[in-house]
Amino acid sequence: MCGIVGYAGKDQAISKTINCLEKLEYRGYDSAGLAYIQNNNVVLKKKKGRIHELKKELDYNIICNTAIAHTRWATHGYANDINAHPHQVGKITLVHNGIIENYDELKEMLKEKNYSFVSSTDTEVVAALIDYLYQANNNLLDVLTSLKDYLKGSYALAIICDDDKNSIWAIKKDSPLILGIGTNEYFIASDIPAFLDYTNKYIILDDNEIVKLDGHGYSIIHGGNTITKEIKNYQSINTDSGKGNYPYYMLKEINEQPIIIDKLLRHYLSDNLSSLIDLSIYKQIDIVGCGSAYHAALIAKSLFEEYSDTKVNCYIASEYRYQKNFYDRDSIVIFISQSGETADTLACVRNVKERHIKTLAIVNVEDSSIARESDDVIYTVCGSEIAVATTKAYTAQVTILALLALKVALVKKMASLDEIKKDVAQIKADMESLIDNIDYEIISKKLYQQHDIFYIGRLIDYAIALEGSLKLKEISYINSATYPAGELKHGTISLVSKNSPIIAIITYDKTKDKTLSNIEEVKAREAYTIVLTNEDIKSERIDELIKIPKVNKWLQPIITIIPLQLIAYHVALLKGYDIDKPRNLAKSVTVE
Ligand code: F6R
Repeated sequence: MCGIVGYAGKDQAISKTINCLEKLEYRGYDSAGLAYIQNNNVVLKKKKGRIHELKKELDYNIICNTAIAHTRWATHGYANDINAHPHQVGKITLVHNGIIENYDELKEMLKEKNYSFVSSTDTEVVAALIDYLYQANNNLLDVLTSLKDYLKGSYALAIICDDDKNSIWAIKKDSPLILGIGTNEYFIASDIPAFLDYTNKYIILDDNEIVKLDGHGYSIIHGGNTITKEIKNYQSINTDSGKGNYPYYMLKEINEQPIIIDKLLRHYLSDNLSSLIDLSIYKQIDIVGCGSAYHAALIAKSLFEEYSDTKVNCYIASEYRYQKNFYDRDSIVIFISQSGETADTLACVRNVKERHIKTLAIVNVEDSSIARESDDVIYTVCGSEIAVATTKAYTAQVTILALLALKVALVKKMASLDEIKKDVAQIKADMESLIDNIDYEIISKKLYQQHDIFYIGRLIDYAIALEGSLKLKEISYINSATYPAGELKHGTISLVSKNSPIIAIITYDKTKDKTLSNIEEVKAREAYTIVLTNEDIKSERIDELIKIPKVNKWLQPIITIIPLQLIAYHVALLKGYDIDKPRNLAKSVTVE
């Protein structure tokens, strides 16, 4: 989603701001823009498309010490040059991340005050509003302090005012904004990695805090008073080290999984399981997330319920935040998020905390909002995930959740550590062999020209199928639907015809034969069947069998997803798509 950068410093504002902006590319965007000061004028450059299109318009030799920049993920109005940020109205030039819910009524009010608009964005309305208020009192601090009384929705803003072009003002509400503190240079950004090339010192800004920065320093103001906040040092685990020899980050990240998972398991199973929270003391466990994070929650539900005798409820964050939730006094809500900034998940954290219910976050990005605002956090420690489609963060989430479920089983004496140790020793090799020794290209050639693909499975295999299907949809743009295998005949089987591809997951013993019967049913309708299994199944009903290692039940879902990730990757590769930056998608979903 939108990324904001602001730079106030010495003389290379253009190149530094663009470098920072490139570090936010992973968030997903469809246009980019920059405003910088040249000869005391505010110069705007905006371009639809990737940052490299914008760069063609820029002259890095221009000496300038102040700039703001933006990557836009379209919400209000098409992706085009006009709607790209920054927006400039009167004396105000600004970039914005968030959504202004009452922009229509503000726009009408401002039109009556003789403002006119060139874009379809809510952001231009904010620029006009600030200009209008500023024209009345010439005090930008007062205007920004009062902004919360005018704007409904979420915003992080970086602003340059014509009357003080060497300063940047910034303010946030419900959208992330970080201040980076360098030596005689200061940054404002949506995310810490933006400025890590220049400094690892940062301050997290909280809602309604206002910051003013120039080449000499910064001040943070809240409720009219200047405040002092803790300066933190970023512990470089999340920096992006580039694609290495891989053509795409997604492939690199898939290949990083064996090491990451092996390390996580060894860390906790050696002697650190005691550091993990004991969930057996809670009467109610809700797990909340979006997209793949929700799918990880569904895996956890199966593991907790089947092997730890512990009931778990899973919810999609955008539903959970508006539904009626019931809690026991001994309830805990677990939030899963790679980015730690997903707007819906973050809103749920806040809602749950208001109810005084215990919260635990399982998060990848260090010091992100969800990590900070939850009572406890467990980091998935898998380094920066750059590809929009998550792979390593998802398997790390599943691993942490499996360990939490195992811990409950140990407490209840339903499991022993010995049963899992042999397979842990082998898991890295098992994952590597799944990545290296299966010809995914051949399988993908059967799929990439299809329009509809079905994924089926039962219970934990259904949860895995959901994630495999999401991977395929995200990056190959092929429509795929996922069903509990037994549900097909209640309607969906009408869609199955000659050569319809059906991908079935069979790793769960209890339901193996049942899913095989469902494969029989689709084969009778001449479907093309691909079965991903840890069993030795020999059957004419199966057109393509992908055999994966059978490992301990706590670990099985961690490895089963790998072939599905790689099938999605190879299908998208055959289609020639931009795998790391699929259309319309954002890595950090900071609007609801
Ligand atoms: C899918 C994917 C998304 C995210 C979802 C939640 O590949 O990446 O479905 O899982 O947007 O994001 P986080 O985990 O950052 O809260």
